[in-house]
This record gives sequence, structure tokens and C-alpha cells, in this order.
Amino acid sequence: MATSLAPKVHNNFIGGEWLESKSGKAIENINPANTAEVVGIFPASDAHDVGHAVDAAQEAFKSWRLTPAPKRAEILYRAAELLVTRKEDYSRDMTREMGKVLAETRGDTQEAIDMTYLMAGEGRRLFGKTTPSELPNKFAMSVRTPVGVTGLITPWNFPIAIPSWKIMPALVAGNTVVIKPAEDTPLSTLNLAQALDEAGLPAGVLNVVFGDGPMAGAALLNNEGVHLVSFTGSTEVGRLVSEACAPSFKKCHLEMGGKNIIIVMDDANIDLAVDGAVWGGFGTTGQRCTAASRVAVHKKVYGEFVEKFTARVKALKVGDGLDPTNEMGPSINEQQLKTVMKYVEIGKEEGAKLVTGGRRLDSGAYARGWFHEPTVFTDCDPGMRIAQEEIFGPVVSVIPFDTFERALEIANGVKYGLSASIYTRNVNLAFQAQRDLETGIVYVNAPTIGAETHLPFGGIKNTGNGHRESGEAALDFYTEWKTVYVDYSDRLQRAQIDNAE
Ligand code: UN1
Repeated sequence: MATSLAPKVHNNFIGGEWLESKSGKAIENINPANTAEVVGIFPASDAHDVGHAVDAAQEAFKSWRLTPAPKRAEILYRAAELLVTRKEDYSRDMTREMGKVLAETRGDTQEAIDMTYLMAGEGRRLFGKTTPSELPNKFAMSVRTPVGVTGLITPWNFPIAIPSWKIMPALVAGNTVVIKPAEDTPLSTLNLAQALDEAGLPAGVLNVVFGDGPMAGAALLNNEGVHLVSFTGSTEVGRLVSEACAPSFKKCHLEMGGKNIIIVMDDANIDLAVDGAVWGGFGTTGQRCTAASRVAVHKKVYGEFVEKFTARVKALKVGDGLDPTNEMGPSINEQQLKTVMKYVEIGKEEGAKLVTGGRRLDSGAYARGWFHEPTVFTDCDPGMRIAQEEIFGPVVSVIPFDTFERALEIANGVKYGLSASIYTRNVNLAFQAQRDLETGIVYVNAPTIGAETHLPFGGIKNTGNGHRESGEAALDFYTEWKTVYVDYSDRLQRAQIDNAE
């Protein structure tokens, strides 16, 4: 349904004001389920805009870092309450700009609510440690201190949750923020900023600069006033981010690709495993870094699993996410859809068996959207490109195996290490799997998606660079430790020397 209203023109949020970009250029925010609908028009910001935002964040840092953390947290509590009252509106906005079904965008908004409350609670914790000194009449402690101005670059697949994962710990810890959200989903970040602004966040503490990666993103990475960068996106871009941060030693967190697996053992509850594989593989149209894009199935139950899984995938109802009867929405944009179509061709050429899907949906109700059939390849060799490379779309590769050891080898035989899952009723295998799977997240009898906000989130290998978001772990990234020694002996005491014997 094309809207007759002229699309709203939005501005950047800098120093507490909604300001036009100096670039004079704009980016249309298009509904991927109906490309005739322009959800809004957003600035294509340049280095000048980014510089302005960083200046505002630097200025605001002077007083924000001195605002008591429990007071900072009160603003977060109020923002969380606003998000609760606006959950439905923000979720609908998100479905329009991102495409995923309403049940999922509600989950996305809920994740932001959870994170905001969680980090508000941290305002009265932010614990350090006190410890006896090795010398008499001396006191030792460590305290968390803010890092400074943070530059956040966020993806389109979780348009309000992932910005909240970064913004909330940054703010409660006393940092100020310049965020550059993905150009495909700017409205959700604008909504989040609106809630924080109305909750009473002082001007300049949070700044939002809209635009694309090469111009606005790169300007943020190269700005000397930015002390910390957190990026979620592809491994290819993550490498560029890392390189851009290196010369000025910016603290850099990267959350990148995944090629997550569900292992189905021969003793598994097969119906449960099928439920998990459908949700893990096709939730968010497969556009999660945690998506279960590989399913390895024990040969003894392979036939049964493939039959049930294929039937369920065939029956998935694809369409506009605002229609509550639809179960899977479109790809985010034309480029992503083309990537999906390219991998379907690769899968066929590699000799995998296409058992369902495989085509773009572009007639009738689908004509104006970036829709693709949910697609399953079976009899995949673990070395095939469709079983190795991140597709970020509705394509699942099913791989047969015959021993638990081989399943682990297949699971670990990719360059990524985000999430993995095993379905088994054997507690010994479950525990071995959680020990030996080379990923940051492991699920037992649940799919690879569904991380909760109070636990560390992140991956190893080419997925991450050693940091975690969410939970208390996020504070380790958004703070620096400061170690404080207080000597009240009134004399010079030399550590390691005066108390050596
Ligand atoms: C992502 O896949 O990009 O665990 C984030 C999950 C969600 C977050 C996913 N809570 O699937």
C-alpha cells in the first residue's frame, strides 16, 4: 500500500537539537516489503556533521562524567518507561523500515527495554574492588572510569536493540555518544534518541548522525576526538573498522559475522529440533548474525529430520511483516536479496540438493518487495561455500554426519565463532559440546538465536575481537579501570622492597 502522505524529512540529533546536515544530501528510508513506500528521508551526513557531533559529545562529557552514576541511571529508567509505552508504535515503525514481522520487531523493542532497565540498574553498582595493600597503612582499590566520547556504528537487523546494547552501557558508565545507525533503518535509532531526549538526557550526551558507512561512518572512525568505537556488522567491514582505529589506538569492539550450527544427535527430540531449526534459520529472514544457517544431522535420524523440516519450511507464510498471519518478511534491500540469489546458484553448482525454495518471490503481493522463498539445501558437504560463508538470508544448509566427534569437527570447521546449538538428551554429550564448541554462545536443546540481555553476547575467531556486549561484560568495554593507592603512613613505603623479608 503506497502512502499518499509526503515522507517526513528528518534531521541529525546534535547537541540536543535536530539539525540539518551540512552535506545537503539525503537518503530515502524504503520499506523493503513495499519499495513504493518511503518511510522517511534522512540526512546523508558528511565529516562536517560528524565533527560537529563529536565536538558536542566532547563538551557534554565534561559534566556527564561527573554526574553521579545513579543520577545518570534515573534518566535511563525514565527512557525505559517511555519505550514501554511506545513499544507498539516503535515496533510498527521498525517493521516498516526493516521488514521483519511484527512479533519480532516487538521482541527487538523489548530487548532495548530490557537493556535500558538493566543498565539503569548498573548505575547503582559499577563496582570496583578494594583490597589490602602489601604495605601497612596503605589502601588499594580499583574504580571504573568512563572512556570518553564513544563512536557507535550499528546494523539494520536489530535496529533498536543493538543501538541500545551500545548506548545504554556507554551512558551509564559516564561516556558520551555519537551513533551512526545503518542507513536502511535510521528511524528506530531516531525513536530511541527521542525517548532518551524526553527522559531528560542533557544536550550533547547522545548525538545521532545519519548517513552511510563510507562517508559518515568513516568520518567517525577517523575523528581524533573519538576514544572508543563499537561496531556490529560484517567481518569485511569490521576489518576496515579495526584498521581505522589502530593508528590512534581507539578502543575498538567488533561484533561480526556468524555461520552458526545446530547439531541434531540421534537421541534428540526431533520435533523440538525441527522447531528450533525453523526458528533459528528463518527468523528475521535469516538476517541475524546468530542465525542457524547450518544444521548438522546424525545419519540415523537424517531422513526423518529432513522430511519434517522441509515440510515446515515449505509451509512458512512469507509477506509483509505488518500482516500478523505472515511468518517471514523480505530481505532488507536489493543488494541483500541478490546475495541470497547468488548463494542459491552457488549451492546448486556445488551439487547440494535443493529441497525447497530457491526462487525470488516477485509476483502479485510480492511485486514491490525484496522477497525470497525460504530455502533448504540438503546433503551438503561441510566444505561447500553455502556451508562456510555467511549468507544473511533465508537459506539453510543441512549436513549429514555419523559421529559426535565429526559433528564437532564440522561445527568448528568455519572461520566464525558466534553461536552453536546441540539437540540431545544425553547430558554427557551436552556438556562435552558446551566445552568443545568454538563459539561465544552455546545452546542446548534450543536454537542458536535468543540471547538475553543480562548475559555476555559475542563471539570468537572471525566473529569478534575479544570483547563482549550485554550484561556486566559490556561495562568492561565501556569503562577503563583506574587503580588507586592511598598511603596514610606518612612515610615513603616502597612496594616489593620494604616488605621483602
Ligand atoms: C544478531 O543476530 O545480530 O540472540 C543479534 C539473538 C538476538 C540478538 C541477535 N537476541 O538472536
